[in-house]
Amino acid sequence: MHADPAPPVLIDPFQRRIDYLRVSVTDRCDLRCTYCLPKGFKGFEEPANWLSHAEMSRLVGLFVQLGVGKVRLTGGEPLLRRGISELAGKLAALPGLRDLSLSSNGTQLAQHAQALKAAGVQRLNISLDSLDDACFARVTGRDCLGDVLAGLQAAQAAGFAPIKLNMVVQAGVNDADVARMVDFSLQHGFVLRLIEPMPIGDTGRQTQGLDLSRLGQQLARQFGLVPEIKGQGAGPARYWTSANGQSSLGVITPMSQHFCAACNRVRLGVDGTLYLCLGQDDQVPLGRLLRAGASDDELIAAIHAGIASKPERHEFNDQPAKIIRFMSQTGG
Ligand code: GTP
Ligand code: 5AD
Ligand code: SF4
Repeated sequence: MHADPAPPVLIDPFQRRIDYLRVSVTDRCDLRCTYCLPKGFKGFEEPANWLSHAEMSRLVGLFVQLGVGKVRLTGGEPLLRRGISELAGKLAALPGLRDLSLSSNGTQLAQHAQALKAAGVQRLNISLDSLDDACFARVTGRDCLGDVLAGLQAAQAAGFAPIKLNMVVQAGVNDADVARMVDFSLQHGFVLRLIEPMPIGDTGRQTQGLDLSRLGQQLARQFGLVPEIKGQGAGPARYWTSANGQSSLGVITPMSQHFCAACNRVRLGVDGTLYLCLGQDDQVPLGRLLRAGASDDELIAAIHAGIASKPERHEFNDQPAKIIRFMSQTGG
């Protein structure tokens, strides 16, 4: 008797191996960053459609069987999902999962850091657009920079490393704060990533960015950082590092220099929709199939069919009006 062969790994039509799944565990958020969610937004997913922890674990488990070794929990704000640490623990226990990480806005991190670490979350990426209270409040819609800084402290105390800070750089809004953010990150050992705003939803489209490929090089010279070479599958950022190798600066430049040829990821929405590209509409309703009683084999076939239709690249520059959903739906 032979055991069933493992289902084949996920390779898309452009020979990209998909080994990274980003799971949005809620589309809700306690902030309203100007480039992400509009004030007064009401179009959140119906609770009836939120996948349960068990349903999420089942879907993620199938991806892990298909060779996905890295999972990132996102939102909205993932720490708003009730029982997030229990869910993280369930996922961390999946055999074959090598790397479990989470992207958060940090407002509630102080309360969750210890439990997330104990559950098996290995890496945290935290949004931080400014160290100035007024600027932070203008960008996020809430005057709570102190909570995020307390969250960062708690995350370091809980032993998370690396902790990456995500700063979406907006011309005339927070670009003057960049040097202070680099200083702060070098001082505390955070990895700072500067991000170009993407035209996702009206909010994203109304946001004015700047060319961060050039700014990154300028800052690297100013702070004495040297380029860091990372292998394929290292993610969308390009990095420079300090002489002791302990802290780095990265840029994520979807607008000035796209990195789609090295894409290794797909996304799951809170209702189980599989999004094949951040910048395209192609999707597979895995949650609906699951709730209609699909077997694991049927779900695996649907995942393969989706990967076979993964678009080659985003078209943010040529077709900026294309993506009407907001970033909070797919988790960035
Ligand atoms: P690491 O696993 O630590 O490399 O995480 P990450 O940088 O992939 O994740 P994070 O959630 O911190 O996202 C940082 C920024 O990169 C956000 O603005 C994301 O929207 C953006 N980003 C992540 N993946 C992609 C992608 O596939 N395409 C594009 N265009 N942007 C992406
Ligand atoms: N463009 C680029 N990055 C964005 N994020 C949210 N909206 C956008 C956008 N329109 C970032 C957040 C968070 C990360 C997961 O995605 O700042 O750090
Ligand atoms: Fe919330 Fe993140 Fe969107 Fe800001 S970027 S509103 S923190 S989901």
